[in-house]
Amino acid sequence: MLSGKKILLGITGSIAAYKIPYLIRMLRKEGAEVQVLLSPFAREFVTPLTLFTLSNREVLTEFHDPKNGKWHSHIDLALWADLMILAPLTANSMAKMVNGQADNLLMTTYLSARCPVLFAPAMDLDMYKHHSTQGNIRALQARGHVLIAPTEGELASGLCGEGRMEEPEKIFETIKTQLKKKESLTGKKVLITAGPTYEAMDPVRFIGNHSTGLMGYSIARSFAERGAEVFLVSGPTNLHIDHPNVYRIDINTAEEMYKACLKLYDDTDIAVLSAAVADFRPILQNSEKIKKKDKPASIELENTKDILAELGKQKKDQVLVGFALETEDELSNAKKKIKNKNLDFIVLNSLKDKGAGFRSPTNKITILDKMGNQKKIELKAKQEVAEDIVDEVLAYLNI
Ligand code: CTP
Repeated sequence: MLSGKKILLGITGSIAAYKIPYLIRMLRKEGAEVQVLLSPFAREFVTPLTLFTLSNREVLTEFHDPKNGKWHSHIDLALWADLMILAPLTANSMAKMVNGQADNLLMTTYLSARCPVLFAPAMDLDMYKHHSTQGNIRALQARGHVLIAPTEGELASGLCGEGRMEEPEKIFETIKTQLKKKESLTGKKVLITAGPTYEAMDPVRFIGNHSTGLMGYSIARSFAERGAEVFLVSGPTNLHIDHPNVYRIDINTAEEMYKACLKLYDDTDIAVLSAAVADFRPILQNSEKIKKKDKPASIELENTKDILAELGKQKKDQVLVGFALETEDELSNAKKKIKNKNLDFIVLNSLKDKGAGFRSPTNKITILDKMGNQKKIELKAKQEVAEDIVDEVLAYLNI
């Protein structure tokens, strides 16, 4: 199953490093190529000779090998890989990843990697529980990296608790699942809308909303990481997305979003409309700034086009997913929207749920499908919620 797959394996300075030779053996047995990168401190825990013998490749720590004058290019290494895994990952190296600190070959290679990244932390329980470590884990997850969570048990310190690196067999299974996922949507085209729209009154003022775009960007990343070609139609946001499969189309208004979506829709396999599109806009848009003394007595509004409803009307064999943000009668309103807009799924978030909705790094949703099934997803990072949404669509497509 792993024949020809290229895996970068980064080992950092934790006692759990002694388990990694088993992982290399399993990967090699299934046909993967494994390039080991050791942090300088990791060499104290596991010998390069052991790792070389099992991986059959030179084990790298330094940029430069003074014995034969060889320079190890972190860029070539990073581009070579189908997947990168950091196991065990110490609290220190994790903090470096979060901050982009490139002070050794392993960290520099991580910064250049475009492939999916997995990380399996290992540390003492209090370090693991610490606010900064937990924040760093969330930051890496928000980048789309996959956490292989440590387990509870006896730690090298003699203390008992959460912090033991997951066993090599489980890490191996996660690597296989991720590699399979990476190709599951190759050849599929996905349309995502994200962020708010701004409806201008004049060149300075607009009607907008609190959407940051994070949910939509997370969904775009999830689809892209599974091999799909993603067209992300984005309202104004401060977010960036750097993935070779994502094409971003920036718009400001609902009308611009509507036009961009319609252009792309015919050729789309899956469309997920997560944008918080303005439902109405000022009828009059002044070309000059309205002066204070000319304050309008009222602002007259007109409806924008409902993009989701229009895509529902034009639907052929696309899978169409809408979002619903409700404040009352949530489930029954969401069900009505599935029917009225000809959707396959609707993702319901409630403003009443703490930690869900606008400006929050987390979300709590219910996914409803047109057959009447409901799936509640507990509160978690938006990137993880995005994975769940993509999983539902894939299950529906029997992928
Ligand atoms: N949406 C859209 N175009 C609009 C308004 C909304 O495509 N002009 C999409 C959103 O991206 C979201 C879904 O419609 O996927 C639901 O939006 P929501 O505001 O919850 O519902 P509405 O259909 O606008 O209905 P209402 O405001 O009555 O709840």
